[in-house]
Amino acid sequence: MAMTGVLRPGHGAIRVLDLDEAVHHYRDIMGLVETGRDAQGRVYLKCWDERDHNSVVLRQADRAGIDFFGFKVLDRATLDKLESDLRAWGVNTERIPAGEMLGTGERVRFETPSGHLIELYAEKQAVGNGLQVPNPAPWTKASENGIAPVRLDHCLLYGPNVAAVHKLFTEVLGFYLVEHVLAPDNENSAAVWLSCSHKVHDIAFVEHPEPGKLHHLSFLLDSWEEVLRASDILSMNNVPIDIGPTRHGITRGCTIYAWDPSGNRFETFMGGYQPYPDYEPTTWTFDGLGAGGGLDYPQRKLHETFLTVVT
Ligand SMILES: [Fe+2]
Repeated sequence: MAMTGVLRPGHGAIRVLDLDEAVHHYRDIMGLVETGRDAQGRVYLKCWDERDHNSVVLRQADRAGIDFFGFKVLDRATLDKLESDLRAWGVNTERIPAGEMLGTGERVRFETPSGHLIELYAEKQAVGNGLQVPNPAPWTKASENGIAPVRLDHCLLYGPNVAAVHKLFTEVLGFYLVEHVLAPDNENSAAVWLSCSHKVHDIAFVEHPEPGKLHHLSFLLDSWEEVLRASDILSMNNVPIDIGPTRHGITRGCTIYAWDPSGNRFETFMGGYQPYPDYEPTTWTFDGLGAGGGLDYPQRKLHETFLTVVT
Protein backbone atom coordinates (compact mmCIF):
# COMPACT_ATOMS: atom_id res chain seq x y z
CA MET A 1 0.00 0.00 0.00
CA ALA A 2 1.10 3.58 -0.40
CA MET A 3 2.52 4.71 2.93
CA THR A 4 0.94 7.95 4.10
CA GLY A 5 -0.39 9.33 7.38
CA VAL A 6 1.00 7.51 10.41
CA LEU A 7 4.03 5.50 9.26
CA ARG A 8 5.18 3.40 12.21
CA PRO A 9 5.90 3.16 15.92
CA GLY A 10 8.76 5.51 16.71
CA HIS A 11 9.49 5.47 20.41
CA GLY A 12 8.44 4.02 23.72
CA ALA A 13 9.38 6.02 26.80
CA ILE A 14 9.63 3.67 29.75
CA ARG A 15 9.95 4.31 33.48
CA VAL A 16 12.52 2.17 35.27
CA LEU A 17 13.35 1.83 38.94
CA ASP A 18 17.14 1.69 38.55
CA LEU A 19 18.65 3.34 35.51
CA ASP A 20 21.98 1.47 35.58
CA GLU A 21 20.23 -1.91 35.81
CA ALA A 22 17.89 -0.91 33.00
CA VAL A 23 20.72 0.26 30.75
CA HIS A 24 22.54 -3.02 31.37
CA HIS A 25 19.37 -4.90 30.43
CA TYR A 26 18.42 -2.98 27.29
CA ARG A 27 21.94 -2.28 26.00
CA ASP A 28 23.97 -5.32 27.03
CA ILE A 29 21.42 -8.16 27.19
CA MET A 30 18.82 -6.96 24.66
CA GLY A 31 21.63 -5.55 22.51
CA LEU A 32 20.14 -2.14 21.72
CA VAL A 33 22.54 0.66 20.79
CA GLU A 34 22.85 3.58 23.23
CA THR A 35 22.59 6.84 21.27
CA GLY A 36 22.58 9.52 23.97
CA ARG A 37 21.72 10.82 27.44
CA ASP A 38 19.97 14.13 28.07
CA ALA A 39 20.08 16.77 30.80
CA GLN A 40 17.12 15.11 32.55
CA GLY A 41 19.16 11.91 32.80
CA ARG A 42 17.06 10.00 30.27
CA VAL A 43 18.92 7.33 28.28
CA TYR A 44 18.18 6.89 24.56
CA LEU A 45 18.60 3.64 22.66
CA LYS A 46 17.74 2.20 19.25
CA CYS A 47 17.71 -1.25 17.68
CA TRP A 48 20.69 -1.88 15.43
CA ASP A 49 18.76 -1.79 12.13
CA GLU A 50 16.69 1.30 12.94
CA ARG A 51 17.80 4.45 11.16
CA ASP A 52 16.39 7.16 13.44
CA HIS A 53 18.08 8.41 16.61
CA ASN A 54 16.04 6.56 19.21
CA SER A 55 13.21 4.10 19.78
CA VAL A 56 13.49 3.36 23.51
CA VAL A 57 13.85 6.08 26.14
CA LEU A 58 14.53 5.10 29.76
CA ARG A 59 13.68 7.39 32.67
CA GLN A 60 14.37 6.55 36.29
CA ALA A 61 11.26 6.90 38.46
CA ASP A 62 9.78 5.44 41.61
CA ARG A 63 7.30 3.27 39.68
CA ALA A 64 7.65 1.30 36.46
CA GLY A 65 5.41 1.70 33.40
CA ILE A 66 5.15 3.76 30.24
CA ASP A 67 5.35 7.57 30.01
CA PHE A 68 4.30 7.75 26.36
CA PHE A 69 4.42 5.92 23.01
CA GLY A 70 5.19 7.78 19.78
CA PHE A 71 4.45 7.27 16.09
CA LYS A 72 6.34 8.80 13.19
CA VAL A 73 4.10 10.41 10.55
CA LEU A 74 4.96 11.10 6.91
CA ASP A 75 5.79 14.82 7.12
CA ARG A 76 5.00 18.12 8.87
CA ALA A 77 1.84 18.70 6.81
CA THR A 78 0.58 15.28 7.95
CA LEU A 79 1.39 16.17 11.55
CA ASP A 80 -0.59 19.42 11.29
CA LYS A 81 -3.52 17.67 9.60
CA LEU A 82 -3.69 14.87 12.18
CA GLU A 83 -3.52 17.40 15.02
CA SER A 84 -6.47 19.35 13.58
CA ASP A 85 -8.36 16.09 12.98
CA LEU A 86 -7.80 15.06 16.60
CA ARG A 87 -9.05 18.43 17.84
CA ALA A 88 -12.08 18.28 15.55
CA TRP A 89 -12.85 14.88 17.07
CA GLY A 90 -12.75 16.45 20.54
CA VAL A 91 -9.30 15.31 21.63
CA ASN A 92 -7.06 17.86 23.35
CA THR A 93 -3.54 18.05 21.94
CA GLU A 94 -0.32 19.51 23.23
CA ARG A 95 2.75 20.52 21.22
CA ILE A 96 6.08 19.47 22.71
CA PRO A 97 8.91 21.55 21.27
CA ALA A 98 11.60 20.11 19.01
CA GLY A 99 14.65 19.03 20.98
CA GLU A 100 12.77 18.18 24.19
CA MET A 101 13.75 14.61 23.33
CA LEU A 102 17.24 14.20 21.87
CA GLY A 103 17.28 14.17 18.07
CA THR A 104 13.51 14.49 17.88
CA GLY A 105 11.38 17.17 16.22
CA GLU A 106 8.17 18.75 17.45
CA ARG A 107 5.69 16.25 18.89
CA VAL A 108 1.89 16.36 19.11
CA ARG A 109 0.77 14.61 22.30
CA PHE A 110 -2.71 13.50 23.26
CA GLU A 111 -4.31 11.20 25.80
CA THR A 112 -6.36 8.20 24.69
CA PRO A 113 -9.64 7.21 26.39
CA SER A 114 -7.58 4.39 27.93
CA GLY A 115 -5.41 6.92 29.75
CA HIS A 116 -2.25 6.56 27.63
CA LEU A 117 -0.17 9.41 26.24
CA ILE A 118 0.39 8.94 22.51
CA GLU A 119 2.61 11.21 20.43
CA LEU A 120 2.93 11.95 16.73
CA TYR A 121 6.03 13.50 15.20
CA ALA A 122 7.38 14.01 11.70
CA GLU A 123 11.10 14.46 12.24
CA LYS A 124 13.82 12.52 14.00
CA GLN A 125 17.55 12.70 13.37
CA ALA A 126 18.65 10.05 10.90
CA VAL A 127 21.70 8.38 12.41
CA GLY A 128 21.63 5.35 10.10
CA ASN A 129 21.97 1.66 10.88
CA GLY A 130 25.76 1.53 10.70
CA LEU A 131 25.84 0.06 7.21
CA GLN A 132 27.83 1.71 4.48
CA VAL A 133 26.04 3.41 1.60
CA PRO A 134 26.22 2.57 -1.25
CA ASN A 135 26.43 -1.21 -1.45
CA PRO A 136 25.64 -2.07 2.19
CA ALA A 137 26.44 -5.36 3.88
CA PRO A 138 23.40 -7.25 5.24
CA TRP A 139 24.32 -6.78 8.90
CA THR A 140 26.80 -5.14 11.22
CA LYS A 141 28.78 -6.11 14.29
CA ALA A 142 26.01 -4.54 16.41
CA SER A 143 23.61 -7.22 15.15
CA GLU A 144 25.62 -9.79 17.12
CA ASN A 145 25.52 -7.95 20.47
CA GLY A 146 23.04 -9.63 22.80
CA ILE A 147 19.58 -10.46 21.47
CA ALA A 148 19.85 -7.63 18.92
CA PRO A 149 16.30 -7.15 17.60
CA VAL A 150 15.99 -5.28 14.32
CA ARG A 151 13.33 -2.82 15.46
CA LEU A 152 10.83 -1.74 18.09
CA ASP A 153 7.75 -3.29 16.50
CA HIS A 154 4.64 -2.46 18.58
CA CYS A 155 3.27 -2.13 22.07
CA LEU A 156 0.33 -3.63 23.96
CA LEU A 157 -1.40 -1.28 26.39
CA TYR A 158 -4.02 -1.98 29.07
CA GLY A 159 -6.73 0.49 30.02
CA PRO A 160 -10.47 1.26 29.97
CA ASN A 161 -12.67 2.29 27.01
CA VAL A 162 -11.13 0.05 24.35
CA ALA A 163 -14.14 0.67 22.07
CA ALA A 164 -13.47 4.43 22.12
CA VAL A 165 -9.74 3.88 21.55
CA HIS A 166 -10.57 1.65 18.58
CA LYS A 167 -12.76 4.40 17.09
CA LEU A 168 -10.11 7.07 17.65
CA PHE A 169 -7.32 5.08 16.01
CA THR A 170 -9.42 3.95 13.04
CA GLU A 171 -11.54 7.07 12.40
CA VAL A 172 -8.91 9.75 13.05
CA LEU A 173 -5.46 8.20 12.74
CA GLY A 174 -6.07 5.85 9.79
CA PHE A 175 -5.40 2.54 11.53
CA TYR A 176 -7.46 -0.59 10.76
CA LEU A 177 -8.55 -3.51 12.91
CA VAL A 178 -6.62 -6.72 12.18
CA GLU A 179 -7.73 -9.00 15.01
CA HIS A 180 -9.88 -8.68 18.10
CA VAL A 181 -10.99 -10.69 21.11
CA LEU A 182 -14.65 -10.46 21.99
CA ALA A 183 -15.73 -9.72 25.54
CA PRO A 184 -17.69 -12.46 27.33
CA ASP A 185 -20.90 -10.79 26.04
CA ASN A 186 -19.78 -11.79 22.49
CA GLU A 187 -20.55 -8.26 21.25
CA ASN A 188 -17.96 -5.75 22.41
CA SER A 189 -14.22 -6.11 21.89
CA ALA A 190 -12.16 -6.87 24.99
CA ALA A 191 -8.95 -6.43 23.01
CA VAL A 192 -8.01 -4.96 19.62
CA TRP A 193 -4.93 -5.32 17.41
CA LEU A 194 -4.59 -2.23 15.19
CA SER A 195 -2.33 -1.62 12.21
CA CYS A 196 -1.25 1.51 10.33
CA SER A 197 0.83 -0.58 7.95
CA HIS A 198 1.23 -4.08 6.55
CA LYS A 199 1.98 -5.48 10.02
CA VAL A 200 -0.43 -7.53 12.13
CA HIS A 201 -0.30 -4.74 14.69
CA ASP A 202 1.45 -1.48 15.35
CA ILE A 203 -0.39 -1.06 18.65
CA ALA A 204 -2.87 -3.17 20.63
CA PHE A 205 -5.18 -2.48 23.57
CA VAL A 206 -6.79 -4.74 26.16
CA GLU A 207 -9.76 -3.62 28.27
CA HIS A 208 -8.62 -3.14 31.87
CA PRO A 209 -10.05 -1.09 34.75
CA GLU A 210 -6.85 0.83 35.54
CA PRO A 211 -5.87 3.49 32.96
CA GLY A 212 -2.48 4.03 31.39
CA LYS A 213 -0.96 0.59 31.92
CA LEU A 214 1.85 -1.06 29.92
CA HIS A 215 1.57 -4.73 29.03
CA HIS A 216 4.65 -4.91 26.81
CA LEU A 217 6.95 -3.25 24.32
CA SER A 218 7.78 -5.65 21.52
CA PHE A 219 10.99 -6.11 19.56
CA LEU A 220 11.25 -7.89 16.21
CA LEU A 221 13.68 -10.67 15.39
CA ASP A 222 14.29 -12.16 11.95
CA SER A 223 13.78 -15.86 12.63
CA TRP A 224 12.44 -18.51 14.99
CA GLU A 225 16.05 -19.57 15.58
CA GLU A 226 16.76 -16.07 16.85
CA VAL A 227 13.77 -16.27 19.19
CA LEU A 228 15.18 -19.49 20.65
CA ARG A 229 18.61 -17.86 20.90
CA ALA A 230 16.94 -14.93 22.71
CA SER A 231 15.49 -17.34 25.27
CA ASP A 232 18.98 -18.78 25.84
CA ILE A 233 20.42 -15.29 26.34
CA LEU A 234 17.61 -14.32 28.73
CA SER A 235 18.13 -17.49 30.77
CA MET A 236 21.94 -17.08 30.81
CA ASN A 237 21.38 -13.61 32.28
CA ASN A 238 18.71 -14.70 34.79
CA VAL A 239 16.03 -12.56 33.10
CA PRO A 240 12.64 -13.87 34.28
CA ILE A 241 10.56 -15.27 31.40
CA ASP A 242 6.77 -14.94 31.51
CA ILE A 243 5.65 -17.05 28.52
CA GLY A 244 7.44 -18.92 25.75
CA PRO A 245 9.13 -19.48 23.49
CA THR A 246 5.81 -20.29 21.86
CA ARG A 247 3.40 -19.09 19.19
CA HIS A 248 0.43 -16.78 19.65
CA GLY A 249 -2.69 -17.88 17.79
CA ILE A 250 -3.55 -14.17 17.67
CA THR A 251 -1.34 -12.59 14.96
CA ARG A 252 0.55 -15.93 14.59
CA GLY A 253 3.61 -14.30 16.15
CA CYS A 254 6.31 -16.60 17.59
CA THR A 255 7.16 -15.08 20.90
CA ILE A 256 8.78 -14.77 24.29
CA TYR A 257 7.37 -12.52 27.02
CA ALA A 258 9.82 -11.60 29.77
CA TRP A 259 10.35 -8.87 32.36
CA ASP A 260 13.01 -6.19 32.56
CA PRO A 261 14.65 -5.52 35.96
CA SER A 262 11.88 -3.00 36.83
CA GLY A 263 9.07 -5.46 36.05
CA ASN A 264 8.15 -3.95 32.67
CA ARG A 265 7.21 -6.79 30.34
CA PHE A 266 8.86 -6.89 26.93
CA GLU A 267 8.50 -9.25 23.99
CA THR A 268 10.96 -10.62 21.49
CA PHE A 269 9.19 -12.19 18.54
CA MET A 270 9.21 -13.05 14.86
CA GLY A 271 6.60 -13.81 12.25
CA GLY A 272 2.94 -13.07 11.87
CA TYR A 273 1.34 -12.43 8.49
CA GLN A 274 0.88 -9.38 6.28
CA PRO A 275 -2.68 -8.04 6.40
CA TYR A 276 -4.30 -5.45 4.14
CA PRO A 277 -6.95 -2.91 5.23
CA ASP A 278 -9.67 -4.71 3.24
CA TYR A 279 -9.22 -8.00 5.12
CA GLU A 280 -12.07 -8.99 7.38
CA PRO A 281 -10.75 -8.74 10.95
CA THR A 282 -10.00 -12.05 12.62
CA THR A 283 -12.26 -12.67 15.61
CA TRP A 284 -11.41 -14.60 18.75
CA THR A 285 -13.99 -15.44 21.38
CA PHE A 286 -13.11 -14.67 24.99
CA ASP A 287 -12.69 -18.40 25.63
CA GLY A 288 -10.57 -18.62 22.51
CA LEU A 289 -7.93 -16.44 24.11
CA GLY A 290 -7.07 -19.40 26.34
CA ALA A 291 -8.55 -22.71 25.19
CA GLY A 292 -8.59 -21.64 21.54
CA GLY A 293 -4.86 -20.94 21.61
CA GLY A 294 -5.14 -17.19 21.05
CA LEU A 295 -2.45 -16.45 23.59
CA ASP A 296 -0.45 -19.69 23.46
CA TYR A 297 -1.34 -21.90 20.51
CA PRO A 298 0.66 -25.02 21.48
CA GLN A 299 -0.46 -25.06 25.12
CA ARG A 300 -3.99 -23.66 24.58
CA LYS A 301 -4.15 -22.12 28.01
CA LEU A 302 -4.67 -18.68 29.44
CA HIS A 303 -1.54 -17.80 31.37
CA GLU A 304 -2.87 -15.88 34.37
CA THR A 305 -0.09 -13.29 34.17
CA PHE A 306 -1.28 -12.15 30.72
CA LEU A 307 -4.41 -10.62 32.27
CA THR A 308 -3.06 -9.60 35.66
CA VAL A 309 0.55 -8.36 35.46
CA VAL A 310 1.02 -4.88 33.99
CA THR A 311 3.08 -1.83 34.93
FE1 LIG B 1 3.20 -8.20 21.25
